[in-house]
Amino acid sequence: MPGVALVGIQWGDEGKGKVTDLLASDTDFVVRYQGGNNAGHTIVVGGERYALHLVPTGILYPHCTPVIGPGVVVNPQVLLEEMDALEQRGIDTTRLLVSGNAHLVMPYHLELDKVTERRLGKNRLGTTKRGIGPAYADKAARIGLRVQDLLDPDIFKEKLTVALKEKNLMLARVYGRLPLEQARIEEEYLAYGERLAPRIADTSTILHDALDAGRMVMFEGAQATMLDLDHGTYPFVTSSNPIAGGACPGAGVGPRDIDRVIGISKAYCTRVGSGPFPSEADPADADLLVEAGHEYGTTTGRKRRCGWFDAVAARYAARLNTLTELVLTKLDVLSVFSEIKVCVGYEFEGERYDTFPPNQTVFNKCRPVYETLEGWSEDITRVTDAADLPGAALAYLARLEQLVDTPVRWASVGAGREQMVRFPEGVGAPAGAGSGRPAL
Ligand code: GDP
Ligand code: IMO
Ligand code: MG
Repeated sequence: MPGVALVGIQWGDEGKGKVTDLLASDTDFVVRYQGGNNAGHTIVVGGERYALHLVPTGILYPHCTPVIGPGVVVNPQVLLEEMDALEQRGIDTTRLLVSGNAHLVMPYHLELDKVTERRLGKNRLGTTKRGIGPAYADKAARIGLRVQDLLDPDIFKEKLTVALKEKNLMLARVYGRLPLEQARIEEEYLAYGERLAPRIADTSTILHDALDAGRMVMFEGAQATMLDLDHGTYPFVTSSNPIAGGACPGAGVGPRDIDRVIGISKAYCTRVGSGPFPSEADPADADLLVEAGHEYGTTTGRKRRCGWFDAVAARYAARLNTLTELVLTKLDVLSVFSEIKVCVGYEFEGERYDTFPPNQTVFNKCRPVYETLEGWSEDITRVTDAADLPGAALAYLARLEQLVDTPVRWASVGAGREQMVRFPEGVGAPAGAGSGRPAL
């Protein structure tokens, strides 16, 4: 079973970093396949906290090769800063590989992300302003610059001339901004290229050889299913495909190279930025979740919007990703509630929806249908054995497992690497037992 994908099934920040890190202990390669430094993955090891944006989580294990795949958009300045910061903390980054086909986030992408958001006003997406959308737009428009262009100054300058001409017109004429200076970008980026050169590799071939040799490869999703460009809550999404299938183009592998798909979800739900969120809690409960769960973004520091577990969205995500199992994180945070709500359906104009509505108006305007479950008050942050979890916590996990019809294999009860409760067979028998997907 060498290929494993780990994906977020909500709107991001589910704790993918922690879970990927934990599972990377048995893994040879950890591959980022989409997104860029809009991601913020937090890992806490022995009280040390690491916030990774571009470097794959596997960097923390010396036996693991971290790979930035062709589907990622790379801001080389951020990547080098992140590598330097890790080196300063004694982490060796010389194993990191970067695909030459990955696209570059350029200074005008950052500028355009900012001015576009400003122009959108109240319709803004609430992006991370890291230039991600504009970089992917240029990739699709075929005027993007790629990591390998950094190795050939003449080609880099030629491609930059073509792209910058249009961008500067746009920045100056549409947005009234000062044009960017070509010479300065060339100097800056070619210097990054010199530093990154030893890291640039044909990562697809390296992964093919690894998979052929039966080595473990983990595909680390950033962002999440509900932020997927094609399947999320468009237009309030990111500009890539975080779903497990995105690992194929994004890493350069085929669907049969992925044997397990692990979905990561909080035991409740959060979202950063604009867009619909049917199970968003009322302000009092949301504040409790923000406080108990320290719900502030790893990348932008923004307060996250908080709400209850949305089983309809989770079922949709289970199908889109063909999840083989589920990890529920931040179960410890729910200890502050005597009762916990779970969204089990949506209601719109008298009609009930148990599956994800295809029409955006329904999702934007629907009311959540809640089921209320009993809470527990015990501090569960030191529990590592399922038998030591309070009965109500086990019942809660079992209900979510049943609603999503996917076995819950782990529950996370704290940010630390070791704060994990394992359920080798799932919490209880999945109700429908009808997914038809093979058990592992
Ligand atoms: P990612 O983007 O999916 O990797 O998630 P983030 O790192 O952005 O956000 C998750 C936050 O929750 C981080 O601060 C983690 O340290 C923290 N975290 C992860 N799992 C748990 C857990 O089980 N309990 C608590 N209390 N915090 C957790
Ligand atoms: P991780 O990997 C949460 C959100 C932004 C915004 C939308 C588009 O840490 O889970 P973008 O900058 O991508 O164009 O912004 O997507 N967003 C995230 N929200 N976690 C993330 O990453 C996110 N990356 C982007 O807040 O709503
Ligand atoms: Mg995050």
